[in-house]
Amino acid sequence: MALYSEKVMEHFRNPRNVGVIEDANGIGEVGNAKCGDIMKMYLKIEDDVIQDVKFETFGCGSAIASSSMATELIKGKPVSEAMQLTNKAVAEALDGLPAYKMHCSVLAEEAIHAALEDYHNRTGK
Ligand code: FES
Repeated sequence: MALYSEKVMEHFRNPRNVGVIEDANGIGEVGNAKCGDIMKMYLKIEDDVIQDVKFETFGCGSAIASSSMATELIKGKPVSEAMQLTNKAVAEALDGLPAYKMHCSVLAEEAIHAALEDYHNRTGK
């Protein structure tokens, strides 16, 4: 069996929603101290719905694929739904990650939660 699923490879080669949102109203940046990888999420939220989301990831292929998939999973969704996103859901949507690469999907969950927290702090919502 291949180490990485087709979906992981596809999102790694062709990541969705890469970049910066200049007028983002929620920004979250997290890192993993062990591997040194860093992920930054930008959210544009209107009427409590995630209208747009972009990311910048300095990290491994699994982190890039996880960021890409995570943005796809929350785009267009209400904030309350995005709050529920888990790294497990991201990994499942990618048709799985090797056990020792699960922490890469944790980074995506944490970056989104950090961006949502930033949004809450800015807006008091
Ligand atoms: Fe660091 Fe994947 S090895 S996030």
